[in-house]
Amino acid sequence: EKFKIAVIPGDGIGQEVVPAGIKVLNKTAEVFGNFAFKFEEFEWNCEYYIKNGKMMPDDGIEILKNYDSIFLGAVGHPKVPDHVSLWGLLLPIRRKFEEYANVRPVKLFEGIKSPLCNKKPENIDFVVVRENNEGEYSDMGGRIYQHSDREIVIQESVFTKYGVERIIKYAFEYAKMHGRKKVTSATKSNGINFTMPFWDEIFLETSKAYPDIETSKFHIDALVAKFVTNPEYFDVVVGSNLFGDILSDLGPAIAGSLGIAPSANLNPDKKFPSMFEPVHGSAPDIAGKGIANPIGQIWSGSLMLEHFGFKEAASIIVKAIEKTIKDGICTPDLGGKYKTNDVTESICNKIE
Ligand code: NAI
Ligand code: MG
Repeated sequence: EKFKIAVIPGDGIGQEVVPAGIKVLNKTAEVFGNFAFKFEEFEWNCEYYIKNGKMMPDDGIEILKNYDSIFLGAVGHPKVPDHVSLWGLLLPIRRKFEEYANVRPVKLFEGIKSPLCNKKPENIDFVVVRENNEGEYSDMGGRIYQHSDREIVIQESVFTKYGVERIIKYAFEYAKMHGRKKVTSATKSNGINFTMPFWDEIFLETSKAYPDIETSKFHIDALVAKFVTNPEYFDVVVGSNLFGDILSDLGPAIAGSLGIAPSANLNPDKKFPSMFEPVHGSAPDIAGKGIANPIGQIWSGSLMLEHFGFKEAASIIVKAIEKTIKDGICTPDLGGKYKTNDVTESICNKIE
């Protein structure tokens, strides 16, 4: 089976880690032999924006529709406001392709010490499922009385029954498929008194169809604290767009580095392409030095294989990552002295 992949390296270290991800995917395809990739690259990024006044061509979405999935690095440049790069590329892709489930696994690997808590690898192994299409990231609102000291700014949140039901159902299905035992919901129904009680109701209602899966819910403020003090409590955590965003950055921080965290923007119905990208951004502070950690990108490639149905190949990549870290072949963000290429080579060599 041959898969057509649209590759968007993006900005900064995206340009450095995406080739690493491709190398590992090609190596895996070579070793397994029952699938192959055709990668096609698109230089849609902040440089493109500076030249053309937009992050991608007007028919960008139409072009991407022809691919089986999208493999993205990161976008963002000090010369372009972050909301421009985000709303110009990432968000349209996530929304037009109904990539409503953003799945971000968090795992502490042997050989990494969590900087935030004193836990063992077996204590930190959970998955954050973030709603990816609506919620707090609404683009609805406005500013009035600007430049006066009476300025008023409003940003609406949008929670639809359809949208909340499908993400919570997905979280339970994910738990079921992956043998996970508990789904925890992030809420704030004490302070946010319309959308969050609505979220809680749907969580309760949906959970009834999954009597074998334990459930719990916490307000987001308590939940973030519990992530740090009791990470072993968590299995699958489901949250709205904003809460999921926060939790899925905190998760990797607990597990040692933003540089290893992967994410899948899934259109579970496979009607449209899904997008796979590391959680981290373009890291302009270390770009061009060859020291970016490629693991977040490489692990995202493994999630792509899983999405295509190649579970074994996907897990071999994760095992190769695990061994590489255990061998101490790490970039500086993990306290090592190795470069992007060394880590990539080591992972490739362990796939066989
Ligand atoms: P960032 O993730 O780029 O960097 C945060 C810190 O983590 C930096 O100190 C960086 O050096 C380090 N870091 C991140 N990835 C790393 C890796 N693979 N290896 C080693 N160290 C790594 O987040 P920041 O600084 O808030 O944003 C920088 C730019 O990236 C902004 O323009 C932002 O909008 C964009 N961004 C884009 C995202 C995307 O494309 N999905 C996601 C997050 C941020
Ligand atoms: Mg984030």
